[in-house]
Amino acid sequence: MSELRSIVRGVGGYLPERVMTNDEMSKLVDTSDEWIQQRTGIKQRHIAAEGELTSDLAVAAAKRALEAAELTIDGIDLVIVATTTPDMTFPATAAVVQQKLGMHHGAAFDLQAVCSGFVYAVATADSQLKNGLGKRALVIGAETSSRILDWTDRTTCVLFGDGAGAMVLELGEDGDRGVLASSLRSDGHHWSKLYTDGGPSSTMSIGHIRMEGKEVFKHAVGNITDVVRDVFDKTGTTVDDLDWFIPHQANKRIIDGAGVKLGIPPEKVVLTVDHHANTSAASVPLALSVAAEDGRIKKGDLVMLEAMGGGFTWGASLIRW
Ligand code: UT7
Repeated sequence: MSELRSIVRGVGGYLPERVMTNDEMSKLVDTSDEWIQQRTGIKQRHIAAEGELTSDLAVAAAKRALEAAELTIDGIDLVIVATTTPDMTFPATAAVVQQKLGMHHGAAFDLQAVCSGFVYAVATADSQLKNGLGKRALVIGAETSSRILDWTDRTTCVLFGDGAGAMVLELGEDGDRGVLASSLRSDGHHWSKLYTDGGPSSTMSIGHIRMEGKEVFKHAVGNITDVVRDVFDKTGTTVDDLDWFIPHQANKRIIDGAGVKLGIPPEKVVLTVDHHANTSAASVPLALSVAAEDGRIKKGDLVMLEAMGGGFTWGASLIRW
């Protein structure tokens, strides 16, 4: 049955040129390629060049998504940038992206839900389009997390990387294509397990990432599986209907754990954590862009996105591609 939905017109990703391997990391802190790969699945990460800002990464990914959608910026009504590493405290990085893309019309704002930011942004864009705010949204996840890492803390600095991913959503009717349902959750009681020890209002500085990794890990698999099941329930679909699982790429062990608990076969899971590390809000759209560009995700496929991060925030979104 046809219904007005937010349909994916195109996706695109961008990774900074510089690749940093685990061996390089082991020259900075007391770690090893073996430890990082065994505990996380990460082999390398990309690091933004000096002067290369979150907005630059976002714009590069946005241009690729627009190209895939065969659209120009003139066709976009709404820009949402999910990021924890904005260019400035204000204005929103989305406004800078708007300027860099030459867009004078429409609306643009940032969304802050840390690693869940892109899933939150997809759900937000979907509801805004359905509420008549416009016809097309450019949804971006972009991060320069390298700028808020404590490069002397081996428990965090080995985990993150920089990058951006973008998606063009267009309101339309095409069978059951589009965003079918989303589920968003948060529980702020857990904020102190993953946070920055600074901010404009508290320290007048940006702070660095602090994390109780084991605590985050403990909550991750359960939270992820809860929202994924919620979205299956809302749509009357099951794991057997799923073509692709696009998890947040924080740790291969979390992804494997969620996959086992949900009964998703490994060949349906898109993995990029090995090459990208944890790119926070950029991780899901980057994984999507990789799998769309290499031809794995095809029109008509059923695709589940999920993420979990600081706050805690977590969420999932089911899309008929
Ligand atoms: O995107 C937001 C969500 N974030 C996440 O999902 C991250 C969730 N957490 C994790 O992925 C894992 O907890 C980590 C990868 C952060 C850590 O893995 P773990 O298996 O939980 O290790 P651990 O924290 O229990 O540490 C085990 C040992 C400790 O040494 P001792 O106390 O056993 O002697 C750590 O000090 O490993 C040590 N360690 C390291 N050793 C080498 C911690 N970091 C490192 C390191 N290199 N980089």
